[in-house]
Parts: sequence; structure tokens; C-alpha cells
Amino acid sequence: MTQELTSTDPARPAARSGEAPGWWRDAVIYQVYVRSFADSDGDGIGDLRGARSRLPYLKDLGVDAVWLTPFYASPQADGGYDVADYRAVDPLFGTLRDAAEFVRAAHDLGLRVIVDIVPNHTSDRHPWFRDPDLARERYVFRPGKGPGGELPPNDWESVFGGPAWTRTERGDWYLHLFAPEQPDLDWDNPDVAAEFDSVLRFWLDLGVDGFRIDVAHGMVKAPGLPDIGHGAQAKLIGSQVLPFFDQDGVHAIHRSWRRLLDSYDGDRIGVAEAWAPSPERLALYVRPDELHQAFNFPFLTASWDAAALREVIDASLAATASVGAPTTWVLSNHDVVRHPTRLGGPRRGRAATLLMLALPGSAYLYQGEELGLPEVTDLPDEVRQDPAFLRSRRTHTTGDNVPRADEDPADLSGQEGRRDGCRVPIPWSGDRPPYGFGPGGSWLPQPPSWRRLSVQAQTGDPASTLELYRAALSLRRRLPGLGDGSLTWVPAPPGVLAFARPGMLCTLNTLGHDVEIPVPGEPLLASVTPVTRDGLTLLPGDGCVWWAI
Ligand code: BGC
Repeated sequence: MTQELTSTDPARPAARSGEAPGWWRDAVIYQVYVRSFADSDGDGIGDLRGARSRLPYLKDLGVDAVWLTPFYASPQADGGYDVADYRAVDPLFGTLRDAAEFVRAAHDLGLRVIVDIVPNHTSDRHPWFRDPDLARERYVFRPGKGPGGELPPNDWESVFGGPAWTRTERGDWYLHLFAPEQPDLDWDNPDVAAEFDSVLRFWLDLGVDGFRIDVAHGMVKAPGLPDIGHGAQAKLIGSQVLPFFDQDGVHAIHRSWRRLLDSYDGDRIGVAEAWAPSPERLALYVRPDELHQAFNFPFLTASWDAAALREVIDASLAATASVGAPTTWVLSNHDVVRHPTRLGGPRRGRAATLLMLALPGSAYLYQGEELGLPEVTDLPDEVRQDPAFLRSRRTHTTGDNVPRADEDPADLSGQEGRRDGCRVPIPWSGDRPPYGFGPGGSWLPQPPSWRRLSVQAQTGDPASTLELYRAALSLRRRLPGLGDGSLTWVPAPPGVLAFARPGMLCTLNTLGHDVEIPVPGEPLLASVTPVTRDGLTLLPGDGCVWWAI
């Protein structure tokens, strides 16, 4: 199944030498969810050629790197996070040559490319799992409990709901922390590690600048696979070490991958998608001999409250500083409710973005957030494809997928079936769906209101969210030291955050009303324009302003 790439495909960047090391320390990295970004062939599903055609847009937006979600051969039981061949491109998304050309075109524009790697599990269609003998060596099989072994080996639950075990025709059980179509690999078997080393080399040889490591906290399970003894396990994820998440053993794998990455030229990086119970445990993933970055989910899950935000910012900075790593910041991705909706509206969405882009370190953007796209909350059940939804057996009616007050809005990913709402193909131009997404339709329906949110509709409008992102990213580049420099808190009234960064001061008002403060300087950029008079300024409610100092 693996496609051939010949030595005549010069996908490697022309020149990396001479570049400053550590590009990733303050990089803005843009997540392309390939199936929903741009479609070149009219099948309604985004692809690599479509994504390549939009690279100039990303360059112009002002990002440093692109992260591509999985485009590998896959039955698509979980949007491609169920990989059947790690060295092949799924025909839905193109060919290996398209992948190489994407990397080359990005490098020509000075953009880096990170790809996803999915090491915790494969697809159940992977050749290893299809061969019953190989499968029993390389995946986690156990006999069942109870008379006749008809009960699962332990009480672990799948992140998508239901037991984490499925019984085979032979009567034993296999582990799947996600869908049954995603059997967990057994990382105690050295063949597994050897195969992933080879897969990483394959993509590094093709020229990629690094990997976003899916479920980086999951590959190692506690010896004996002990019961947890707790019902709602999804609620425990990220709040404590579990026998299947954040085991210390995963760090040996990341260390060996760091050695592999370092054996290549050009500052290739590893980014952990890890749900750890504390900033301190998360920082273990980015120790000097481990990965370069880890997603900061505590920031993403923080509530819209000045004290809560300050606490998570301080804890994140302290934890990463203790190991000499940069902090990362993220507000949206393909697993969670888009942040303008999650935080309570577009006004807060814009303010949160300016806060994030003012913080020291690296920031991750999710496609469409620069357009201010809200979550699509009224997708009909019949178009939904998220396995979490399909397994929940619930009927989600119009509006039912917005989190209720008693729910954790970022609950590892809206696993109750909400994830399709942030994956709707993005609008580029025109008055009608698919809004320039491609020459055909779009695999999920786009709302009529999105004609006003397209790239075309917003370009050149200084009040638009797209121009706000462009201006913020341009300022990040222009103010020396803004990316990776220091942060100093400045006294501010309750509900307001104020901090100084090299060349600017950021003020955020999390209250629903204006707050009067002394004018700190000249406004550089604002999510809502402040009114200043007689040495005082009215900091707009739910607004963020950058000031020149
Ligand atoms: C990915 C999800 C995916 C899950 C299983 C997550 O970390 O971001 O989209 O469903 O891993 O691979």
C-alpha cells in the first residue's frame, strides 16, 4: 500500500543552514485540519493540493509554521486518527507526491511543516492487527474476567464512551482507549518502537520539520492494567495520573524520539498532545532531553475570569521555566468547541486571542479562528461523523451541542459528540456554500451566515477579526523580544489583567462592563476600541488592548 517516492522528489528545504536555532520557541503555528481547509478536486473533502494552494494566504496571515492533521491511509473511523498505513497518503487527501510538494511549497515560502503522528493506536485495518498472530504480539490482548471470560479484563472506559475493551471471536479482549477501530499498541514490544522510529525517519527524510504527537501521554500502561474503581473516567482525564494516561514510562519513548529528531539537521521538533494533571507534570514532557513543546490545555480550559487566567498563566510560565522550555498557548483545535462560542461570544473570542498572542512563547491557531468562526451548533445528526457522537447513541437536536453550565466546556474534546461542530469546512469567498472551499460541496454543511465571515468578505475591513489577527501577528514580528521575552504583571483593578512585555503593555478586561484606568500609552491594537480622555481610558468590557510603552 505504501506509495513510492523517488529520489527525484527534492522535497527537502533548499537551505536551512544559517537560520537561528530554536525557531519554535516563539513560533505561531497554524493547524490545518486537512479535510476541512481547502478542496482541490470537488469531492467535498479538503486535500493536500487544496491546502497547498492556500499557503500564500497563510504566509500573508503571518504564521511561522503549519501543522497538518493526519492525511495517512485510513478507513476514517476517527477522522484519520485511525491509521492503516503510516507511510501512505489516503487517496481522499492526495498522494505522497502531493505531500512532498506541500512541504516543498511551504519551505519555499519560509513556512515550516509539522505532521501528526499517531503512536498510541493504529486502525483495526492496519496489517499488524489484521494478522491474528502479529496482533497478539503487538497490541494489548488479555483474557476476560468472570466465568467463561465474558467480562472485560478491567474497568477502563473508552474516551469515546463505553468499555475500553472489545471481545474477539477467539474469546479474548483487546484494549482501545478510543474507538474499537483504534486498537492500542503494546509499547512493551520492541517491534513497535522500531516501526515508529522508521516511520518518523520516513517523514523527516521527506522534509517535515517535526511531529505533533497524538496521545503522547498514553502509550505506556501501568503494569498489571489495574482497575480504576471509578465510574466517570472521562472526568478524571487530565486531573490525575491514570493507569493508562501520563504514566512515567512514556518519557523514555519521548527521550528516544528527541535523540532521533536531533540526529537530523535543521531544528526538527516534537510537540506533545498530553493531558497531564498539572503544569508541573506537563513540563516533564518538555525537559531538555525530551520534546520541544506540549500543548497547554490548562490555558484552553481556563474560565473567562481574570484571576483564573492569571493563575494558569503564572503556573504555565513557572513550570516550563523550571525546565528551560518555552510555554505554548492554544484556544481552539479540532477537538474542542471553538473559543468564541466556548467563552461566550465573538467579543470575548477576539479579546482572548489578543491575550494569547501577547504572552511569551509559542501560540497555536486553529484554522478559521482568524475568521472568528463560531461553533456550528445545529448540525443534523445524519451528517455527523465524530465517533464520539456515533457511540454516544444520543440524539443531539438543534442547539443541544453547546455545553450546558454544569458541563466542562472543553471536556477532553467535547467527546460527547460535539467535535463535528468545529470541523465544518471554512469559508473563503462568495455568497453561497461551499464559499470557495472547493469546486464541489462540503462534507459538512456550512451556515448561511458564513458568507459574511469568509476571507474575501473580511479582507481589507479594519474592523474584521481577520484583520485583527493579521495586525497582531505582524506586531509580534515587529516588536523585538515579544515572542520569547519576559512578562511583568502590572497592578490592575479586579477583573482586569495588565502585564508588560518588551515594547508593549497588554490590558484585558474580563468584566462585562467598561473599567476606568489611567491611560497606559498609545493604543497599538485593540479587540474593541478604548475611549481615552483627560488621562483616563475606558477599558471596554470583554476587551483586550495592546499599548505602546
Ligand atoms: C485527537 C483526536 C482523536 C484522538 C484519538 C486526540 O488527541 O486530537 O482527534 O480522536 O486523539 O486519536
